[in-house]
Order: sequence, then C-alpha cells, then structure tokens
Amino acid sequence: MARVTEHTAIHRTLSSASRTIVAQVWRVFAGRLRTGGSLGRYSVNQVMLKQARQPDLHRKNATQLEKMVAAGRLAARCLSWIVRQVTPGMTTDEIHELQMQFAREHGVTPAPLDYRGFPKSICTSLNEVVCHGIPGTRKLVEGDIIGVDVTLIVEGYHGDTATTVPVGDVAPEVMRLLERTLECQRRGIEAVRPGARIGDIGAAIQSTVEPDGYSVVRDFVGHGIGRRFHEPPEIPHYGKAGRGRRLLPGMTFTVEPMINAGTWETRILDDDWTAITADGSLSAQYEHTVAVTEDGVRVLTVQNETGAWEPPGRWSPAGWID
Ligand code: MF3
Ligand code: CO
Ligand code: CO
Repeated sequence: MARVTEHTAIHRTLSSASRTIVAQVWRVFAGRLRTGGSLGRYSVNQVMLKQARQPDLHRKNATQLEKMVAAGRLAARCLSWIVRQVTPGMTTDEIHELQMQFAREHGVTPAPLDYRGFPKSICTSLNEVVCHGIPGTRKLVEGDIIGVDVTLIVEGYHGDTATTVPVGDVAPEVMRLLERTLECQRRGIEAVRPGARIGDIGAAIQSTVEPDGYSVVRDFVGHGIGRRFHEPPEIPHYGKAGRGRRLLPGMTFTVEPMINAGTWETRILDDDWTAITADGSLSAQYEHTVAVTEDGVRVLTVQNETGAWEPPGRWSPAGWID
C-alpha cells in the first residue's frame, strides 16, 4: 500500500506535470481562439478543459486489462504457494527466499525488491506490524499472525495481493480480527462498480469494523496499479459514501484494508519501512487488485477463471478449505 505522505510527494510531481500540460494546451487553444485558427476536429469546451485538469486515472483498454489479469493471476498463485509453506520455526527471510524462487522459476520480477530502496522481494508483517515488514531473521512462532504481501511484475504489469494467516493455532479473538478484516476486504470490493465513488469503498469498510471497536488504518491507502506499482487514484479504506471521484470502467486499483485491534495510528520503525500500530495492538490485512468493469467489479488477483475472493490458497478463517 502506499504511504500517504509518499503519495503526496508523487502527487505533487504529477500535479505539477499536469499543470504544465494544462497550461500548454490552454495556451494553444486560447491562441487559436484569439486568431480564429482551426482546432482541427476538436472544439474547446468546458468539459474538455475539466477533463484536461483531472489527474490521469490510467483507465486500461482491453489489451492492457488482459495483462493485468495475467499479472493478478500469477501473483495470486504465488501468494497461495508461499502461504501454504508458512510454518512455525521458519524465518521471514525464508519467505523472501520462496518469493525469489517463485520469481526465478516463472521468469517474473518481484516488485518490492529495490522499490524506493526496499531491501527484499516481499513484505512480511508480523502481529503488530501494519505493513511493509522487512523479511529478516525473526522465526515464526505458534500464535503469531503474519501478513504476506506479494507484488509481481508480469510483462510490465503489476499484480498486488496480500493475506494474513495464523501461524499454527492462534487465540479465538485473533481469529476474529482476521475474519472481520477479510469481511472488510469483501465489502470494500463489493462497493466497487462504475458510477460508485471512491468514498463508498472506505465507508463500507469502516461500517464493517468500527462498531466492533476495531479501527481502520489511515496512514496507508489502496492505490491505482498498472505499469506502475503505485499510481492514482488513492483508495482510502475510510471515508464517506457518495464522496470522492467516480469509478469508471477500466480503472484498476487495490483494495487492501489494514484493520487494527486498537488505535488506527501507526509509527514507522528506524528501518524507515516497517509500520507498526502506535499502541502495539495486532493488525491484519487482505489485499486484492481489482478492475472496474462495465457492470461491476472483477477481482484480478485470483488463481483461476472461477476464482473466489477468498485469500489465495483458499485459506478461510475456518481453516484451509481446499
Ligand atoms: N505491496 C505493497 C502494497 O500493497 C507495497 C509494498 S512497497 C515495498 O502497495 F516497497 F514495501 F515493497
Ligand atoms: Co498494494
Ligand atoms: Co501489496
């Protein structure tokens, strides 16, 4: 997920670039209007100018969507293959090694490696780690929960998906956090359809867990995705129904709610990546990459055509269901 501050930096760049383009386009149009010159097939109107000012939402065409489907599918298969091997006693570095092996064997690139200086191929987020945990020498122990977040680049397109799994047996209240977080992902995705607004997604997620006393992380958000790992728009997991930009067919983005047992606030460790809950409470996350279709939503990070929304590997809070 994108760190909001980091995104602000990206957006600053984008918006200064788009300001320049708008200014140039406007100068040409204005010049031609003044001189009565031809605008070719185009006529300037308010709608065009408004569109020119919108940040590019990178709607994908059919060819690009097929590539997103392929990237999503492989990312889902990869995540499934990895989490099935998670067992007490293994280190998070071994999870990184598994990711490297999968990428090698499939001839694809793990997007996190060297992304803005991230040192490993995958994020492993244990217990109170909200996201962006760096694989290391810590051994998994029974009772832990671990978030595993895979992003693969397949023929230039990104597929991004994460799950949180229990290590061995975990306490019932911990399973409940996983189950509710999964429900957030499901309801967030269900809010996606053409004409809906970005705020509808966050509103669906907040209303799912806040009554239970859980909180929705605000410092990290879902993100547009495509040729780039993180692109506009930002998809907050909190918000108000009916607010924000309208969703349009061809948009591809992630829905990746991070839900905390305690406060929503986070803190970044000295490694500059690992985000933990400010109060040390547990945090869980599920992530899918989705596409807005003509009449609804398509989850891209599923393992096959009939792929369900369950976490890859079809782990469910009730246990493995394959
Ligand atoms: N996969 C994360 C996301 O869902 C991003 C990880 S960035 C990294 O957006 F650098 F930590 F890998
Ligand atoms: Co993401
Ligand atoms: Co991710």
